Amino acid sequence: MIHTPEFPKQIYASRRLRLAQSVREKSGSGVVIIGTASEKYRNRDSDFPYRFDSDFHYLTGFTEPGATLVMVVTKSTCETILFCRPKDLDREIWDGWRLGPEAAPNHLGIDQAYANTEIDNKLPELLSNQDAIFARLNNSQEQGQQLRQWLEKVQSHVRAGMTTPEALFDIETIVHEMRLFKDDYEINLMRESGKIAARGHIKAMQTSQPGLREYHLEAELLHTFRSLGAESVAYNSIVAGGANACVLHHRAGDALLNDGDLCLIDAGCELHGYASDITRTFPINGQFSSAQKAVYEIVLAAQEAAISVTKPGYDFQAPHDAALKVITQGLLDLGLLDKKVVGGVDNAIETKAFQRFYMHRTSHWLGMDVHDVGQYRETPSALTPKPWRNLKENMVLTIEPGIYIRKSDDIDPKFWDIGIRIEDDALVTSGECELMSRDVPVQVSEIEYLMKHSS
Ligand code: GLY
Ligand code: MN
Ligand code: MN
Repeated sequence: MIHTPEFPKQIYASRRLRLAQSVREKSGSGVVIIGTASEKYRNRDSDFPYRFDSDFHYLTGFTEPGATLVMVVTKSTCETILFCRPKDLDREIWDGWRLGPEAAPNHLGIDQAYANTEIDNKLPELLSNQDAIFARLNNSQEQGQQLRQWLEKVQSHVRAGMTTPEALFDIETIVHEMRLFKDDYEINLMRESGKIAARGHIKAMQTSQPGLREYHLEAELLHTFRSLGAESVAYNSIVAGGANACVLHHRAGDALLNDGDLCLIDAGCELHGYASDITRTFPINGQFSSAQKAVYEIVLAAQEAAISVTKPGYDFQAPHDAALKVITQGLLDLGLLDKKVVGGVDNAIETKAFQRFYMHRTSHWLGMDVHDVGQYRETPSALTPKPWRNLKENMVLTIEPGIYIRKSDDIDPKFWDIGIRIEDDALVTSGECELMSRDVPVQVSEIEYLMKHSS
């Protein structure tokens, strides 16, 4: 992103200003320290594809490894300093171009930049005579050790009149609350990420036919995501044929896609750091059986019920409760739950009888991380347990009910191995939520039509 002229310096600068304001509110002044992710070794001279740390990227837009952001915040000023990899022709010949500390201030809109080799000299200086540090409390062992060394160095100068910070605050508490509410720039990226993921799902549905294997459909997803500009998948794609759909974290493997079975695909892409997360379930041969359709319609009705309460005035739990009621009623109607044994819908919910067929929650926050950051409970609150978070404009969450029916002697065989989940990405607005992933069809008739008219 930094190579493009439209790198949005202003957006990152305004996020840093908001962060600085939170630092002042908590402690009057302080030093923020936040590093990006390390490169991860895969095997013999080969790394996993590099992915920056989401919090670091949220505040800088900088995508290179080996970088740390430091902000020195006073009552009235905020100085932003980046430590990054120095220019190094030898390394750049092997690993690629580096921005370097000379170009970083102008490119990124920060005040100063130094080579990361300078950090152990500079940090003790920057931490001297400061009241508070705002850093990650759950640092890696290496980062924790580094912070202790910087503080020891400041400590060694106390007789020369220097003071050490007295307080350590968790930077994540502040940044994660900011990230929970998406700004316009993020919302546009998430819409785009949802559109690309939807195109991948459409391509996979159109490619589906008995005799192919799960990885053939995964290949269509990957090809579409990458050819439309997404950098990566947002998580390992689930492509699950038949009984595999009842394994919640099944990875696309080499299982055959069989005539008459369903295929569940849970896949999303990552575009400039922003995830989409979509699930669709469709018949491998393009035609739902009546048992498959009956279960599908319940899951879809559950999703619609959840969508209708994904708006201000409701809390995070409301979509789950709404979906659960429809699913449990549906399980009773289909005879998958026996009324005589579990009682009515309220009792089946109370006793968790539904859990045999619906064992996960309906929603999670979505953003830079697929299971995005942000508290799910209101805080601070004197109440125990703390109430669920109220839904507010510009939050983004998934809505993903499902029903999973494993083969069992007490279940009508026509339902065996049916696993259905439908998942969309919802932006909370002042009115009805906006579904950012609905370019891929969801109604039975639309899916059957699409699969019949593959291009
Ligand atoms: N794809 C991960 C999830 O749906 O939560
Ligand atoms: Mn999800
Ligand atoms: Mn998903």
